[in-house]
Amino acid sequence: MYLGIDLGTSGVKAMLIDDGQQIIGSANGALTVSRPHPGWSEQAPADWVRATEEALDALKAAHPAALAAVRGIGLSGQMHGATLLDRQDQVLRPCILWNDTRSHVEAAALDADPRFRAITGNIVFPGFTAPKLAWVKNNEPDIFAQVRWVLLPKDYLRLWLTGEHMSEMSDSAGTSWLDTGARRWSADLLAATELEERQMPNLVEGTDSAGTLRPELAARWGLGSGVVIAGGAGDNAASACGMGTVSDGAAFVSLGTSGVLFAANGSYLPNPASAVHAFCHALPDTWHQMGVILSATDALNWHSRITGASAADLTAELGEGLKAPSGVTFLPYLSGERTPHNDAAIRGAFAGLGHESDRVVLTQAVLEGVSFAIRDSLEALRLAGTNLSRVTAIGGGSRSRYWLKSIATALSLPVDVPGDGDFGAAFGAARLGLIAATGSDPVAVCQTPATAETIEPDASLASAYEEAYGRYRRLYPAIRDAVT
Ligand code: XUL
Repeated sequence: MYLGIDLGTSGVKAMLIDDGQQIIGSANGALTVSRPHPGWSEQAPADWVRATEEALDALKAAHPAALAAVRGIGLSGQMHGATLLDRQDQVLRPCILWNDTRSHVEAAALDADPRFRAITGNIVFPGFTAPKLAWVKNNEPDIFAQVRWVLLPKDYLRLWLTGEHMSEMSDSAGTSWLDTGARRWSADLLAATELEERQMPNLVEGTDSAGTLRPELAARWGLGSGVVIAGGAGDNAASACGMGTVSDGAAFVSLGTSGVLFAANGSYLPNPASAVHAFCHALPDTWHQMGVILSATDALNWHSRITGASAADLTAELGEGLKAPSGVTFLPYLSGERTPHNDAAIRGAFAGLGHESDRVVLTQAVLEGVSFAIRDSLEALRLAGTNLSRVTAIGGGSRSRYWLKSIATALSLPVDVPGDGDFGAAFGAARLGLIAATGSDPVAVCQTPATAETIEPDASLASAYEEAYGRYRRLYPAIRDAVT
């Protein structure tokens, strides 16, 4: 038996799998986000421990024998958070989360130092960890002076589980302090934020062992001794392990609140100029790229709030047959955009409205706008040397067949839809626990789920979609100065 623990933003999910990777059960512990000021987003690390305890208590109640047989645990977590500890491992302030934008001034200042993009392969986004430490230095100097350790959220859970200060490559690549190609901390970048390597956890690969479960916790949940805790992964890389997106050329598109186009790479392929995220994967000698769009299903949810119709009703009204774009263009930049613009100030737009533009036309434009935003990410990955031949769709938005057809046609790629199942970050983390505990071949363990259906691009609409994508591309530079 193996256990995956995913520390998400809205909760902790713990999942038990057996030696054949069948899911035995899962349980959750809830988390809330505190937003004390506009743009701030924080959580107390003690709440992560409480939510993990809740999830494991529930798993113990439902599956005591299976939990007792666990040999390996894998951790996954929300990326980029800054958990600051003093020399007694006491938490110095609430963790500043990935979606906290207070450090945008510090991020821009660090990004202007060319070493950051050159060494990390990424823009210094306000959500990343280094600018948060620069903000703490500027605004809470007494706390900054006491920082002995900077840990990512899941690595704080590891400290509680094992007593070790350890991390792994995939999550650490989101700090702006990692030399992503060399897979090691950059002393130069740490020095640029007045930190030293001794304040960072030691690094292992996500598939390696990074400590063993403390005996008192093993006793609490009835586990044996010597349970291995794998390095684990940031939540996107962990989901990729769950989806089997681990070998060069494999890719998924995730239509959640935000949208992600994730590609696994056999080598390090950065393209910060197009706001591509180039991170280490959880597997050794493997990297990945991500295009991240900030509003995917969130764009449809916004349209639903405005029209008073549910998202399901709006997509049902559109029907299943893909339509040619109407001439109305929607930019889904409701909370700014990461890839390809790196523009926190831009906002969304409808353009080309006419008297005939009814609700159905607007729904169609919203779905197309998100499809074109993902096409932008595909182009950004292409510029960085990645050519995809198909993608797998996951996330809530992938329940809309219209949207899947629109994405297939916008990307000119077949879109595979997996059969029912939970292939998310907790499952991927459990796979990493299995690999670390057994020494199994990572690629053999991280298989792709069976495809239930493949949605092909609609060739009859290819040129209409291409023209509409051209309009979409021209709109951002045309409105940028007017709306920011
Ligand atoms: C990735 C990112 C998010 C967080 C949220 O760059 O910011 O996906 O990991 O969980």
